[in-house]
Amino acid sequence: MRISKSRKIGANISRIVLIRKEQELGAFISDTGQRSYVQERLSGDKNRVLLNHLDHIEIFVSLDGEDTTTHRLEVARKAGFEVHPWLSDHEVASVSVVNGGVDPEESVAFAEGLALTNYQFLKYLSPEKAKQNALTEILLADDGLTDDHVVKLENLVKAVYLTRDLVNEPLSYLTAVQLSIEIEKMGKEAGFSVEVFNKKKIEALKMGGLLAVNKGSTDPPTFSILTWKPEKAINERPLVLVGKGVVYDTGGLSLKPTHDSMDYMKCDMGGAAAVAGAIFAMAKNELPIWVVGLVPATDNRPDGNAYVPGDVVTMYDGTTVEVLNTDAEGRMLLADALSYARQYDPELVIELSTLTGSAHMAIDKYGMVGMGNASREVMENLKASGEYTAERVAEFPFWDEYKDQLKSDVADLRNIGGKYGGAITAGKFLEHFTDYPYIHLDIAGPSFNKVPFKYFGKGGSGVGVRILYNFFLDRSQ
Ligand code: BES
Ligand code: MN
Ligand code: ZN
Repeated sequence: MRISKSRKIGANISRIVLIRKEQELGAFISDTGQRSYVQERLSGDKNRVLLNHLDHIEIFVSLDGEDTTTHRLEVARKAGFEVHPWLSDHEVASVSVVNGGVDPEESVAFAEGLALTNYQFLKYLSPEKAKQNALTEILLADDGLTDDHVVKLENLVKAVYLTRDLVNEPLSYLTAVQLSIEIEKMGKEAGFSVEVFNKKKIEALKMGGLLAVNKGSTDPPTFSILTWKPEKAINERPLVLVGKGVVYDTGGLSLKPTHDSMDYMKCDMGGAAAVAGAIFAMAKNELPIWVVGLVPATDNRPDGNAYVPGDVVTMYDGTTVEVLNTDAEGRMLLADALSYARQYDPELVIELSTLTGSAHMAIDKYGMVGMGNASREVMENLKASGEYTAERVAEFPFWDEYKDQLKSDVADLRNIGGKYGGAITAGKFLEHFTDYPYIHLDIAGPSFNKVPFKYFGKGGSGVGVRILYNFFLDRSQ
């Protein structure tokens, strides 16, 4: 999707005019009949009206000026989502978005919602079945915005698209090795560096959690390290992002039922994809922040050599773990990545993962479950970025009592808790491997949509990219 600033508004170009309710429309519509038609429709409960001029269309969208900024931005994004079918129906390839009296931030949010809605994953459809959306270009006509603002939006949208592509790719293409190759490609394009550990190196490092999960697989694991360290970085100690890269989760020997459960488990690297996408956006937009991404990756399968319930695994940091469910695999490999992060002496570590059905059950797709031991200020900032981008964080408690469920008779820890508080016992398990300020984001709910959801669309939502990017952008200002 091309997004650029438009200077001239051509007469025959399809356009969308963003206005406030009750606003005078004389500047935009000279024909009095048309003007009163639009005004009348907008004064009712409609927030958008279409004028069909045969060789182009014109859409008026009224955005409510009341309410908080975060709410107004989400209204604008949703309006972008809502007008998208009109543009498709009329086969509009290039559209101007004209700020007719709203905040420039709302123009950006509208364009963002429209651009994100336009995403499609058509790679595996035959050409005759791959019906591509007509829209390829959004021109922003807003004097309050610089070229730079617009380019930054374009890059951010690209980052979300790439993240969604990764989540939508099935295991038949996206093995752990392929995931690391895709991350390398992203690094080349955006300018961050990528180092990939292969199985030999992972064995030499004794990453026992990652290797245990990989035992049932015929494909080797990978461990990717993404680094964006600009010269002008304002932080002296890095911020580290960790993403769960389970390229497919069958559950292992604790096999998942297929229907409605295993069916979608190509999405189990949603955390890894979000980490790669966020760093892509940061590098493309040259944020002055030193950030490191860690992505442990493998599939989780029940082969002859697969790890079994009852196994005791020695992790990268030497902790022993009694495996009581091979489907609690994410925490096994994330634990190794979190221990590995210690050597960076990080200022903060944020880890994203499609970790528990329990988080999904608790809040559905409307947000991610967050918890951690970082300062109140950091957590509040992250939650504020969540509100600002509508990639919301619902904070769960992180009380030490939850650790009681992880006690084992034969090892230092067991890899599952009891019946209750599953999202939190998973987080507590991971915290054991940290010695720095830590935030855990469980994106099991919002990472993948079986049915279309707002501008997040169908399939991989790309969730995580915009909240993280905004959080770091905020920190750099
Ligand atoms: N990848 C799943 C969690 C998941 C569920 C992601 C739904 C996306 C949507 C994870 O590895 C898993 O299987 N978790 C188990 C943990 C349990 C065995 C303690 C779960 O939540 O059932
Ligand atoms: Mn699992
Ligand atoms: Zn999993």
